[in-house]
Amino acid sequence: MVAAVIPQNLVVRREKRNHACSALLTAGEESEAIPENIYLNKDMISFRIKTEMKMLEKEMSVLQIVIYGNPTLTKKAEEIKNIDKIIMELAQDMVKTMHTAPGLGLAAPQVNVSKRLITIDTSIGEDSQSLIILANPELISQDGEIALEEGCLSVPNIQEKVARPFRVLVKGTDLEGKEKIIEAEGLLARIFCHEIDHINGKLFFDRLSPLKRNLIKKKLKKLAQDNKI
Ligand code: NI
Repeated sequence: MVAAVIPQNLVVRREKRNHACSALLTAGEESEAIPENIYLNKDMISFRIKTEMKMLEKEMSVLQIVIYGNPTLTKKAEEIKNIDKIIMELAQDMVKTMHTAPGLGLAAPQVNVSKRLITIDTSIGEDSQSLIILANPELISQDGEIALEEGCLSVPNIQEKVARPFRVLVKGTDLEGKEKIIEAEGLLARIFCHEIDHINGKLFFDRLSPLKRNLIKKKLKKLAQDNKI
């Protein structure tokens, strides 16, 4: 990686978050020293700054959420090989889309992009520390089971009880290209499972009995005919 020169008038503030949206850049203020323990090395700083500058260059967009019936929702999404500009922008737009909906989680196939990228925020934009953006997320272990009502932005007007693991261990790549392992339980574990299902082409009602699944599909067809979804 080529190290970038840090502009003198750029102040980097680090919040207690561990994803690439975390640093706030403010141009034109007096420079502050960057604490040693915050940034690991110079390459990391340059990468962060380049990343954050790109983010500032582009206004975040609210993308259209596709609904049941769109073929992208039912196919296995592609692995992300590089966290490039396109992925960074997609992630930003997904966060904005998720917060606007509002939703607790979003997977790229829901915005008609067949890539293995998910965003999660249980605070719906209230607490920046709870934002998670992961590429290529996968469940590496799970335990317990709990059935709770679940819905989906791509399956409007339908909520059903779905059994999910109580605790999961998820592996994925953050926007800095670093591998992350996240332990989650309860609601967060449920959202991870729901979003990982999305990138595998599964919707929450695919986890129900064939009888229930068919009833839901009929209901969705009826809603679509009546132009209610
Ligand atoms: Ni969903």
